[in-house]
Amino acid sequence: MGERRQTFGQGVVMTAVILDGRKLAEEIKGKIKKEVELFKKDGIEPCLSTILVSNDPASKIYVNIKHKNCEEVGIKSKNFQFPEDTKQEELIKFIGKLNEDKSVHGILLQLPLPKQIDENKAISAISPEKDVDGLHPVNMGKLIRGESSIIPCTPFGIQQLLIKNGYDPSGKHVVICGRSNIVGKPLAALLIQKKYGANATVTLCHTGTKNLSYFTKQADILVVAIGSPKTITANMVKEEAIVIDVGINKIPDPNTKSGYRLVGDVDFDTVKEKAGAITPVPGGVGPLTVVMLLYNTLLTASLQTDHELSYDLKNLFEH
Ligand SMILES: NC(=O)c1ccc[n+]([C@@H]2O[C@H](COP(=O)([O-])OP(=O)(O)OC[C@H]3O[C@@H](n4cnc5c(N)ncnc54)[C@H](OP(=O)(O)O)[C@@H]3O)[C@@H](O)[C@H]2O)c1
Repeated sequence: MGERRQTFGQGVVMTAVILDGRKLAEEIKGKIKKEVELFKKDGIEPCLSTILVSNDPASKIYVNIKHKNCEEVGIKSKNFQFPEDTKQEELIKFIGKLNEDKSVHGILLQLPLPKQIDENKAISAISPEKDVDGLHPVNMGKLIRGESSIIPCTPFGIQQLLIKNGYDPSGKHVVICGRSNIVGKPLAALLIQKKYGANATVTLCHTGTKNLSYFTKQADILVVAIGSPKTITANMVKEEAIVIDVGINKIPDPNTKSGYRLVGDVDFDTVKEKAGAITPVPGGVGPLTVVMLLYNTLLTASLQTDHELSYDLKNLFEH
């Protein structure tokens, strides 16, 4: 954890602990790398296949980051690029082929998909055992029932960011802004479980929520995943709250070479003066999302082979 108290002259100014996602992700990656070596000793090469049905530059960047991380830890990975006008049947047929391919352990369908493809149908076509994103109805169903499952990467990463920094959600009021299938809903399902690293009282907010700040101000832990730049301001946050900013938004910035910069859904500069801890954007939740994808790839590889994950790695996430 970072230093919280900073003194300036006679006065004492409190600023939030900055939750460094990059540092934690690197630590976890070290353990994942060791596990990959153990797989290889057993003659198994863990392999992730990604499918990109888009020319969207942001999606391409996200997929490239995933492959770069796989390479760093020794996981084999391959991207399959499809044109924007791909038909749903064609995509589902291809997913079926990857399901059958024994050399592929994990399948990740990069979202969002073009309009002509039903996201739910495409995700449901992935074998639940290869579903590294944990978004298949079987894995989501297991998650809500509290059964062992493949946990969606971003909620899993948020939970690890909290626990590993000493902020156990148990007994805390967690307010989540955003109810998407990839962040808000599975995070709520994860944190309500009567388990270590969960056991929280969860409130889920969305655009139908009246008076959002009435709820956000009650949060011991506030998670924001709404996709709207700097929307959560200091007056919406309780003193000493733990603030997890999931949002990634591009805003114009003439002072940068690219002409833009990335900001979260939280107004970092003002909220950090009030919160107890806060994630930066970039460098907070993002790196954890990627590292949990690496872990999920090894988990799916263990489900399909007779390689059991080592106690050392499992113990990092299961208690
Ligand atoms: N760091 C990471 O690894 C990571 C991973 C995933 C996503 N993200 C980022 O996180 C953000 C959210 O992503 P997503 O895929 O979850 O978004 P999404 O599918 O667009 O869902 C946004 C959710 O926020 C709610 N919402 C929007 N504006 C709101 C407001 N003003 N007040 C209250 N609720 C509001 C929406 O409510 P309704 O349901 O009522 O429409 C919806 O439930 C994006 O910036 C995305 O890029 C980051």
